[in-house]
Amino acid sequence: MLIKRSDDLTDNDVTDYALYQRRRDFLKTLGGIALLGASGLPLMAQAKSAFSTDEEQTPFEDITTYNNFYEFGTDKGDPARYASSLKTTPWSVTVDGECEKPGKLNLEDLLKPHSTEERIYRLRCVEGWSMVIPWQGFPLADLLKRFNPTANAKYVRFETLVDPDQLPGQKRSVLDWPYTEGLRMDEAMHPLSFMATGLYGKDLLNQNGAPLRLVVPWKYGFKSIKSIVRISFVAEQPDTSWGRSAPEEYGFYSNVNPDVDHPRWSQRKERRIGEFRKRETLPFNGYAEQVASLYSGMDLRKNF
Ligand code: MTE
Repeated sequence: MLIKRSDDLTDNDVTDYALYQRRRDFLKTLGGIALLGASGLPLMAQAKSAFSTDEEQTPFEDITTYNNFYEFGTDKGDPARYASSLKTTPWSVTVDGECEKPGKLNLEDLLKPHSTEERIYRLRCVEGWSMVIPWQGFPLADLLKRFNPTANAKYVRFETLVDPDQLPGQKRSVLDWPYTEGLRMDEAMHPLSFMATGLYGKDLLNQNGAPLRLVVPWKYGFKSIKSIVRISFVAEQPDTSWGRSAPEEYGFYSNVNPDVDHPRWSQRKERRIGEFRKRETLPFNGYAEQVASLYSGMDLRKNF
């Protein structure tokens, strides 16, 4: 798989990456001292999350130039090329549906109660490539709990902004806009489910889903919806953009599963971006120990 390089990247971006690594090493030796993160939120120098992997991290340049964000086009380089048209300030997120405290919050108020932490997660795209990404953000559960979901809230539905002027790919009907995704309530509340606001210690770039995106590391990457404007608690399983476009190819669960082929290709192996040889794909993307129990008794071939 060819990795496209963006002409937009400057020397600064490369320096940032080196600085980030040095700062992490420095923080590791300090321990427990609060600093301000790139998004202005406190970034604690803390022991690495038990959920983080030690695997080699994909370079910043690759994470920010090899993207899927169809609202900017279908080529892997399109998001980095065109995403500057997305305005992320001001930004607001509506939280509604089956909850006691619905509301429309501006981004600052939405983020204020949350301190950010780092999670170094594997990301496995359904297309057969993968990366290791050091995200900053906070657990999705912490956000959802603030709105007091009721007993009727069985699923959570997420929606990306619709604005074809800012997201020019929406002028074409490659997908049914808005991009929507969903999780079962217990999946959404699982401690691995994460709201990302940054990566490599910098605020998210637009191509990675600024200012707020979901990260669900045991599922194929398309569940990790970008640039979220609405979160709804719902009683029924919501449909999803990819499910609407090809229901036989993209199921609601979309847990990474080497035993269930995509109808057009095998899911047994993946290419880690930057590596030559393919590696084995692991059940639940290597997070089986943490999440397999969510699906006990379920037929994962049927519920793909
Ligand atoms: N979210 C929106 N709104 N639009 C998209 O096209 N693509 C998905 C997901 N989130 C997508 C999206 C897919 S297919 C993948 S693999 C990941 O974003 C890619 O995230 P990355 O570009 O930050 O690696």
